[in-house]
Formats: sequence, structure tokens, C-alpha cells
Amino acid sequence: MYELALTVHSVLRLALLLLLAWIFFMGLRGLFSGAPRPLSGVLLQRVAVICADLQLTIGLLLYFVWSPQTASAMQNMGAAMKDKELRFWAVEHGTLMLLSIIFVHVGKILAKRAGSDRSFHVRTALWFGLALAGILLGAPGTPWSEHGRSFLRL
Ligand code: HEM
Repeated sequence: MYELALTVHSVLRLALLLLLAWIFFMGLRGLFSGAPRPLSGVLLQRVAVICADLQLTIGLLLYFVWSPQTASAMQNMGAAMKDKELRFWAVEHGTLMLLSIIFVHVGKILAKRAGSDRSFHVRTALWFGLALAGILLGAPGTPWSEHGRSFLRL
């Protein structure tokens, strides 16, 4: 189950990255072109929220049930904080990812409530851009991550 959860978590990460990048660039394009808010943009934001919530569920299950990394950290949190690898899995990854997921939710709600098309695009670019940056910084498997892992586990 652990391996399967890691695989689904990894594939969902790629899906979320692509979705968030797409939504972010749609926001920027809309902002600079002055185009009306597209229906596809609203739908994509809904799909991103669903993917983010799924990712949160699997992340929490990994964290509290399946991961040997977090199990080991929870045995002695004090010692885990001094271990770069354990600290990453026990604190840094979950916190940054949780923030990104919150940004996705806030972005979708604020964009939906936007009073003008321009405000829709600004809110979309801002909040989904922040969510994208959080994942690029806090998920392993990127060239700049010091925590190994392949970019896509299959
Ligand atoms: C947008 C949200 C998230 C993304 C993009 C993400 C991404 C990833 C990636 C790429 C991995 C490595 C998978 C692999 O080994 O191939 C991973 C592992 C993991 N993630 Fe997340 N994650 C997210 C949210 C969360 C959350 C909210 C938590 C917990 C609070 C969490 C906890 C974990 C744990 C415990 C592991 C496995 C550590 C191990 O045993 O090796 N993740 N995550």
C-alpha cells in the first residue's frame, strides 16, 4: 500500500503542477490581453481543487499511517529536527504543501467572487502562482531538491 500511495502521490503531483502552471499562465494571459474570464478557466480551477484535496488525503495517510520516514520522526521529534532528511518529511514538506493547497482553495474562491474580469485574472495569477511556487519549492524530485526521489514514480 505504501508503494502504491507514493506512486499515486507522485503522479498527482505532476497533474497538479501541469494544471497550476496552465491556470497561472491563463491568468497572466487574460490580464495582459484584457480577455473576459473563460469558462474553461473556472472549470480548470475546480479540477485543481479536487486534485489538491486528493493529494492532501493521500499525503495525510502517508504521514500518519504508511510512511516509515514520518513514523521514525514521530518516535523522537526532537532528534528528527536535527536530521535534515527526517525534518523535511516530518515538517517542511507537509507544511509547504498544506500552504499550497490552501492557496488553491483561496484562489478558486476569490476568483469566483471577482467583480470584474481583470480582478478574476489578477486573483487567478496571484493565488495559483503562489500555489505553483510552493509545490516547486516543497516537493521532492525536482533538480534543486536535496531529497532525492524521481520526478515521476511509475
Ligand atoms: C500539493 C500537495 C503535495 C505534493 C505536490 C506532494 C508531493 C510529494 C512527492 C512528489 C512525494 C515523493 C513521492 C515519491 O517518493 O515518489 C511525496 C511524499 C510524501 N508526502 Fe507529499 N505532497 C503533497 C502534499 C502532502 C501533504 C499535505 C502531506 C502531509 C501532511 C504529505 C506527506 C508526504 C509524505 C509523508 C511522503 C512520503 C515520505 C516517505 O515515506 O518517503 N504530502 N509528496
